[in-house]
Amino acid sequence: MSKDRVVLAYSGGLDTSVAIGWIGEQTGKEVIACAVDVGQGGEDLEVIRQRALDCGAVDAYVADAKDEFAEEYCLPAIKANGLYMDQYPLVSALSRPLICTHLVKVAKDFGADTVAHGCTGKGNDQVRFEVSLTSQNPEIKCISPVRDLALTRDVAIKYAEEHELPIETTKHNPFSIDQNVWGRAVETGYLEDLWNPPTKDVYVYTDDPAYPPIPDQVVISFKQGVPVALDGQEMSSLQIIQEMNRRAGAQGIGRLDMVEDRLVGIKSREIYEAPGAVALIIAHQNLENLTLEREQGRFKRQVEQRWSELVYEGQWYSPLKGSLDAFVEDSQKYVTGDIRMILHGGRAVVDGRRSTVGLYDFNLATYDSGDSFDQSLSRGFIGIYGLSTQLAAAREQKESKK
Ligand code: ARG
Repeated sequence: MSKDRVVLAYSGGLDTSVAIGWIGEQTGKEVIACAVDVGQGGEDLEVIRQRALDCGAVDAYVADAKDEFAEEYCLPAIKANGLYMDQYPLVSALSRPLICTHLVKVAKDFGADTVAHGCTGKGNDQVRFEVSLTSQNPEIKCISPVRDLALTRDVAIKYAEEHELPIETTKHNPFSIDQNVWGRAVETGYLEDLWNPPTKDVYVYTDDPAYPPIPDQVVISFKQGVPVALDGQEMSSLQIIQEMNRRAGAQGIGRLDMVEDRLVGIKSREIYEAPGAVALIIAHQNLENLTLEREQGRFKRQVEQRWSELVYEGQWYSPLKGSLDAFVEDSQKYVTGDIRMILHGGRAVVDGRRSTVGLYDFNLATYDSGDSFDQSLSRGFIGIYGLSTQLAAAREQKESKK
């Protein structure tokens, strides 16, 4: 590892473009830019690579990681029904560990001892970056130009203009946005007043659910917890997520407006839209209701909550997260079958399910004549099952009369 090189997580935007020269000046080190495409949309990777070089990077690495993101990060989130605070499908939280695996690799390949990211000192992402980096390479050093080297927005604009960097400095987006294949997160000054409703221009992945097109019926097929086909057509994980983003997005599904607990202790207001993620997780949960044994399902719901908190808090590579992954993976053995959903007006509603390995037994469940459930067993069961509460109730009655 060379002490003289830094790998910068590069987005192609103003702040990280300025950071290339800024880090060089502040630390005396050479900068290697690393841009990872997880479905942010926007510019071509080659354009981003060239800009990094034009802004003074000694080298630039770009990677299309959309399939890797879908398979290695979104699929585990489906299997774990990953929702932070029961709602947020972990959009940004899932992308950081992937970006970090690339940063660690680039640092190794280019002989750099330090990695830099463009996060502020107030959010979760700084934690996710640095914890993911040091979990993979305990020797690596981390810096944040914004947090540690005083690179404010005004400084960035001035620097870009003075150095004539090939980057727009005038176009100021009122929103702070992070988006990828799994969804979109939006924060703004205007939305920091919790009573202000989101304006229409906040949304990009979803149409207004108040004016939906005709209902859309979709059949999602799962194999061991993994969605493998839509309407009988097999597709890659990435294609399924993208197609569900399109179809559920057209119905306004997956919009969230929430106040969330950040790791650093701040409560923040965030708008999310994750149409594909929300629809796929609802489908997966419904298939689990049919295929998981009751106690396994109950315990899994606790595991899911902890799993989501760990992922939200930057512990993707932690030992506990690894152990929970093993549980989740084992639980998916029979999560195979089809879920039929109606997508309409902001909701994804399951109206049919089938599985050759489900635990639903028609003959046990039916109220028609000829069911196979021996109802005489229930009497004794209830007597014993309710006994301890019955004893407590009897004591309560006796003592309250004294
Ligand atoms: N609050 C979300 C999270 O911690 C999203 C943060 C992404 N940044 C943004 N500019 N909206 O996962």
